[in-house]
Amino acid sequence: MNSKYPKDSRTTLTDLVLPSETNPLNNLFGGELLARMDRAASIAARRHSRRIVVTASVNHVAFNKAIPLGSVVTVEAAVSRAFKSSMEIFIDVWVEDRESGLRSKANEAIYTFVAVDETGAPVPVPPLEPETDLEKDRFAAALRRKQLSLVLAGKMQPDDATELKALFTK
Ligand SMILES: CC(C)(COP(=O)(O)OP(=O)(O)OC[C@H]1O[C@@H](n2cnc3c(N)ncnc32)[C@H](O)[C@@H]1OP(=O)(O)O)[C@@H](O)C(=O)NCCC(=O)NCCS
Repeated sequence: MNSKYPKDSRTTLTDLVLPSETNPLNNLFGGELLARMDRAASIAARRHSRRIVVTASVNHVAFNKAIPLGSVVTVEAAVSRAFKSSMEIFIDVWVEDRESGLRSKANEAIYTFVAVDETGAPVPVPPLEPETDLEKDRFAAALRRKQLSLVLAGKMQPDDATELKALFTK
């Protein structure tokens, strides 16, 4: 299978924050943002694999900045590393200033998707080749995050998590 680049899967979703999507402080409801990120990540995973994809785990979400009612929110997702059947998707969330049009980073998240066949069985995906420095950094750290996610899910023994052990013995 030929390698693909992060730009091949890059997916951008831009939408407003409407009143029905806010919490009592009139900021975007966290669950609504999770759904938008899941949607963008799912499209990115599908673009990389060209297969049916399912969310396997949400590895990391940081709600660093509240997003007020009426904001224009852009969710950008791209595959940051491909393994055998699983793909790590890095998601950046941006908010656009109404007057200047400048974008500032509001949140980020990391999801894992798995490509499956029609019976739900995992299938191989193309390798990913990072190009930019940021893509290379995210690629390099992805194996550690995969092992952490598998350990937390009880699917890997901590002793087998080589990348995590290396982190704590540095
Ligand atoms: C995701 C799913 C296909 C994995 O199936 P499985 O039987 O665990 O299959 P495997 O053990 O072969 O794992 C498949 C891949 O997923 C990865 N994986 C599984 N669970 C994971 C987790 N919690 N975190 C990170 N990666 C995970 C495995 O490491 C493996 O990756 P690799 O092939 O790239 O090495 C299966 O659990 C599933 O269908 N879950 C439901 C998905 C779903 O419905 N999502 C929407 C939720 S509403």
